[in-house]
This record gives sequence, structure tokens and C-alpha cells, in this order.
Amino acid sequence: MNQKLRVSRFFRLPVAALSATFIATCAYAQAPAVGTGPIHDRMQAARTNPELEKKLFVLGRKVAAVCANCHGDKGHSNTEEIPVLAGQNSDYLIEQSRKYIDGRRRDTFMQGVLKALSVDEIVGMSLFYAAQAVEPQPTQSAALVEKGKQYFGKVCVACHGADARGTAHMPRLAGQHPGYVLATLQHFKKRDGIRSNPEMESITQGMSEADMKAVAAYVAALP
Ligand code: HEC
Ligand code: HEC
Repeated sequence: MNQKLRVSRFFRLPVAALSATFIATCAYAQAPAVGTGPIHDRMQAARTNPELEKKLFVLGRKVAAVCANCHGDKGHSNTEEIPVLAGQNSDYLIEQSRKYIDGRRRDTFMQGVLKALSVDEIVGMSLFYAAQAVEPQPTQSAALVEKGKQYFGKVCVACHGADARGTAHMPRLAGQHPGYVLATLQHFKKRDGIRSNPEMESITQGMSEADMKAVAAYVAALP
């Protein structure tokens, strides 16, 4: 996304939220490996304590109001380059937040936003978005979807699941914007450091642009 578009969108956010976003400092620059650390511990605590889970969910809904200009009211963004967060798996959202914070995933704007959130706000927004319904994407070409289905069934299904809804640590792809999926696959393939994951980097080496477009159309069409 071009920087101008981001800035102009962001300036429409409430002033209080905007300043809060940039005042806080990065407390987790040295984030530990998957499944450990303060964010993970807080999520585990919420999972075993319904009252805490509810409290963090309500906080997450407030946080999501700050993200709504880009990610949509309930996590369904209307822009191809901005990922749908609705229905995304909460552990995946936490892990990506940590990756932005410690620099393993690069996007200057999103890194700044997530560094400014507290542990509770990150856990809360992950709970909130994971619980939102996924809205259907515009209809894709049937031939392209069929081609993508074949490819997905051979290469992607083992990790992302038959319904492309992922698992705790695997992202949901069903209902995601095809433009975002395509751009993400290209980053993995180029190994440009914007995204980093050994499995996805290796899988995309064998993908042509046409394969990527087909698979993106297929997963977008899934409920
Ligand atoms: C100015 C627009 C904008 C705002 C505001 C914004 N985001 Fe984002 N967000 C993006 C874009 C663009 C990406 C994709 C960047 C990339 O490719 O890494 C993204 C990616 C993400 C991802 C990764 C999703 C995935 O599927 O891997 C998460 C999580 C996220 N944003 C959470 C938030 C939260 C929480 C807020 C509010 C506190 C927020 N964003 C505010 C534009 C925005
Ligand atoms: C060996 C397991 C594995 C296989 C096979 C696999 N993936 Fe992934 N995929 C992952 C993991 C793990 C991530 C999270 C990467 C990260 O942390 O950035 C991921 C992330 C993604 C993302 C980013 C999602 C988001 O919201 O940003 C897309 C898109 C994706 N995979 C598409 C595919 C497609 C298409 C295929 C088949 C061609 C595929 N994957 C095959 C494990 C796999």
C-alpha cells in the first residue's frame, strides 16, 4: 500500500487513539519463540478464565475501533491490500503481532501500531477478530477457482486444512482478499524479508504467478 494512502487513512482515526498509539514504547523487542512470553501467557490465562476472557474481548472490541478505518468494523476490510482479520485464528494473530514487534515481519506502519499496544490489547483484539464472522468475497472466475482448488489440494491442504481455515498456529486463508494473498505469496517467494517463514518460503519457490493467482482466487471463494 502506498504511504500516502496509509497516512491519510490514519489521520481519520480518533485523536486520543492516535496519540496513545505512538506514545507507548516497545516492551517486547526481544520476543521469545512461539508459544512463550507475556502475550502467550496472557492468552492462556484468558482461555482458562471466562471472566478475564470476556474482559479482554471487550477491550479488544475498543482496540478494533481504532483499526476499523483499514481493517473494517468487524475485521472485514474493503481494500484488497489490507487483510481480512475476521475469523482469523487468535494464536496466529498473536504470533504475527509478535513478529511485527520484533521485526521478523516488516511493515513500518503495522509495526508502529502493534508496538504501541499493551499485552492485554493484543490478546483482546485477537479474541475479538477471531470471533467475527467472515463475509463472502466477490465472485471469482470459476475456471480459475477450479485450477486453484487442484493446486491447493496438492500443496497447501496439509497445513492450512481442507477448508483453508487453518489451525491455532496456521492462518485461515478462507475468505481472505485474493490481492493480499497474492502479494504475500510473492514476498515469501522473493525472500525479501517482509515476511519470514521457512516453510512458506520453500513452498512458494515452485509457484508461478499463475499458480498464485489461481490459489488466491480459490481460497478467497471459500466460506
Ligand atoms: C492504515 C491502515 C491500517 C490500520 C489503521 C491498521 N492496519 Fe493492520 N494491516 C494493514 C496492512 C496494509 C496490513 C498488511 C501488511 C503486511 O503485508 O504485513 C495489515 C496487517 C495486519 C495484521 C496481520 C494479518 C495477517 O493476516 O497476517 C494484523 C494482525 C493487523 N494488521 C492488526 C491490526 C490492528 C490490531 C490494528 C489496530 C490497532 C491495525 N491492524 C490497524 C493496515 C492497517
Ligand atoms: C508446511 C506447512 C505449510 C504449507 C504446506 C503451506 N503453508 Fe502457508 N503458511 C504456513 C505457516 C506456518 C504460515 C504462517 C507464516 C508466518 O508466520 O508468516 C503460513 C502463511 C501463509 C499465508 C499468509 C497468511 C496471512 O494471513 O498473512 C498465506 C497467504 C499462505 N500461507 C498460503 C499458502 C498456500 C497458497 C499454500 C500452498 C501453495 C501454503 N500456504 C502451504 C504453513 C504452510
